Order: sequence, then structure tokens, then C-alpha cells
Amino acid sequence: MKTIAGNKYLINKDNLITIDSVSLKTLLEGCKTPIMVFLESKIRDNIQTFNKIFNSVFSNYEGFYSFKANFLPDICSIIQSEGIGAEIVGIPELNLALRLGYSSDKIIAGGPYLPDQFIEKCVLNDVREIIIYNINDIKRVNEISEKYGKSQNLCLRINSQKFGSKLGIVLDAKTLSKLEKILQDCKTICLKTILSHRATQMNNFEQFRINLENVTHAYTQLKNSGIKVDNINLGGGFPEAVVIPEIQLKKIALRLKEYLDLLEINVNQIYFEPGRYFVGDAGIFLTEIIKVTDDRWIFLNIGNNICPKFARCSLRFYNATKINASHKFKTSIAGIIPTDQDILVKDYFFTQSLDEGDVVIITNVGAYTLTFSNRFPYSLPPIFLVSGTNVKKIFDPIVDSDFSLR
Ligand SMILES: Cc1ncc(COP(=O)(O)O)c(C=O)c1O
Repeated sequence: MKTIAGNKYLINKDNLITIDSVSLKTLLEGCKTPIMVFLESKIRDNIQTFNKIFNSVFSNYEGFYSFKANFLPDICSIIQSEGIGAEIVGIPELNLALRLGYSSDKIIAGGPYLPDQFIEKCVLNDVREIIIYNINDIKRVNEISEKYGKSQNLCLRINSQKFGSKLGIVLDAKTLSKLEKILQDCKTICLKTILSHRATQMNNFEQFRINLENVTHAYTQLKNSGIKVDNINLGGGFPEAVVIPEIQLKKIALRLKEYLDLLEINVNQIYFEPGRYFVGDAGIFLTEIIKVTDDRWIFLNIGNNICPKFARCSLRFYNATKINASHKFKTSIAGIIPTDQDILVKDYFFTQSLDEGDVVIITNVGAYTLTFSNRFPYSLPPIFLVSGTNVKKIFDPIVDSDFSLR
């Protein structure tokens, strides 16, 4: 018995592949490729592992799922049932979080684009914090909360200082004094938290340390200007759970804690906002080879339209039809968009024999594939949620036509 891509819910036993407790054969009897499958138990395991580690290291950890990683309602609902909050960027996600029963105290909302309607909806629904990327937005939140007789907590996104990053606030002297003034003038808002999110797929401690250093530096700058914040938010950026071993995640948590202790910074709460870690390895595509060339290129029946490079997934490819054959022959894999740019991977170790009709499993596609997918005019794949022996169709392109949020 072997796991596929290190995922304990993808098993190859005697040439038979099972996805949780459903055989691949059974799954494909009911429908044609391409399809997308999510593993409910993997999402739950990932959340429980993350919570176990961060709760054991920090007495004040709280997790918020970054909806943009995957906003399928069934996925967000599973995450809600594990007690995780929501980090959302706009009205469609806010509507979804509220509809799924996320309590307003578990929702942090905001981003680079805060239209009045979004601020109003956040204020009226008493979201825990509105996240500010532009200090001029503070006045707008203040006006709106004043209008409704509410008081609103805020979180400031601090620029990560990563080369070229334009997101968030750079706390130079001019901005700091402007901020001081704004906070003095605005009576219906309260700055509670500062956030720095550095990058995606951070797989060594150094990147997390730089991010923490950025937050603690901002914390001290604010404190020296008489602005005391209660909480810090370190964002997301963790790789897929199968890519980062538990022991390494624990090391990262422990070293972050050590670093905070060293600086003698005591905050009420420390938030994390994982997206990819929770859902990345819980999604797979089942696809098929539709063409093989003499120079070992294969074309699959999906491409960057639904499995985009932008998603930065740790893609792994397996020839499910020849799963026991050794995967050590360099093969390049292209998609179905009629452009030579639609390349999924080059020189990937794959089976020697390549045939049209071979079923190919692509793993680690649960995060950002759907959100960064585009409208190239192919039909979307059906999406299934597997849990034990249960298979539920959670998206049917014929009935639902689109999984976008409204
Ligand atoms: C502010 C913030 N928090 C959290 C995330 C989630 O990141 P990841 O999915 O890499 O954990 C992102 C992703 O871009 C982000 O911008």
C-alpha cells in the first residue's frame, strides 16, 4: 500500500487507487474526465494539525481561513465547522461567510478595495475587524460607522517590505504623523491589530521571521508614536500540508514564539490566516491524456484555464492508468488552451509509456486554482466532495453554470 503524493487519502494498493474510501474506478464510472475532487477529511486533518501546533505554542492563537484560496461554499462550510474564522476581501465573500453561519466576531474583512457598500455591510454586521490597506480609508470607515451609531475595530495592513510589494501601508515618518492625526480625529474606530502577509509558499523559517520582524518593527514604531495595538496578524503563506511536514511547522511556530519572547512583545492575540495550508492538498484533478507527441509531450484535457500558473500550486502528476510503472521518464505536459503558452510542466518525471486515454491525477490543486481560473470558453469540470465512502457533487457545470460568487 502506497500513498500518492504523500497524501494519506490517496492510496495505491495492488494497482487499485482509492480516494479516501472510494475507488477511482467507481468515481470514473459515474462521469467522464476532467473532474475535480475534494477530500473533506484532508481539510479537517489539516486544520486540526495547524490548530494543535499553534495552540500548543501560543496561548493566544486564532485562525482565520483566507476565503480567496477557495470559496466553494461546501469547503468554507467544512472550515467553519472546525471553528476557524473567515478572512474575506469583498461583499460576495462576506455574504457567503454570513450565509454559512460564520459569526460576525469570526470575520475579518477588507483589502485594497473598500467600496462604501462593503464598509457599510461590514459595519452593519459588526465584523470583528476591517482591514485597511490605505490610511485614507480609515476616515471613510469612521464616517460610515458614525452614521450608523456603531464603533468599528480596525486592522492595518503593513507593507511587507518584500521587494516590489505595493500592498499595505509603509510606516514612514510622514505616514506615522498622518496616522496619529487621523486616529485622534476619528472617534468611532479603534485600531486593534496590525497585519503583515509576506508571500505564498513560504517553506523556510527565515521568510516567516522577516515577516514577524516587519510586524514587530511596526508595532514598536506605533507604540513610540503613542499608538498601542492589541494584536498582531501574521497572515498566511504556508505551503500545502503534504509539502511541509508537521515537525517543520511546529519548528516555525516555536521559533516565532521565541522571537516574540526575545523582543518582549506581549500581544493579546496572534492571528494567522492560512489559505493554501488548509485546502491545497485536499483538491485533485482527474484528467486524461488526449494527445502524445514523439518528443514526449502529452496534452491533458485541462489546462491553465482551470489549473493556472498564477495559483502557484505544488503540482504533482501521476499516470493513474499505469500507477505501478516507474515515474522516472522526463515528460512535458501541456493543456488544452490553443496557445503554446499553455504548459502545465516541463520535463516532469512520468511513465515511459504514454497513451491517449491514460487517466492522469494532478494533486495539490485545492487552493487558488478555482479563484484564479479564467473564462477560456471550455466547460468547467464537475466538482465532487468525497468523505469516507460518500461522494457529493458540489458543482455541476450544467446546472450551476459558474462557481463565481455574486
Ligand atoms: C493578507 C493575506 N492573508 C492570507 C493569505 C493566504 O495566503 P496562503 O494561502 O498562502 O496561506 C493571503 C494570500 O494572498 C493574503 O494576502
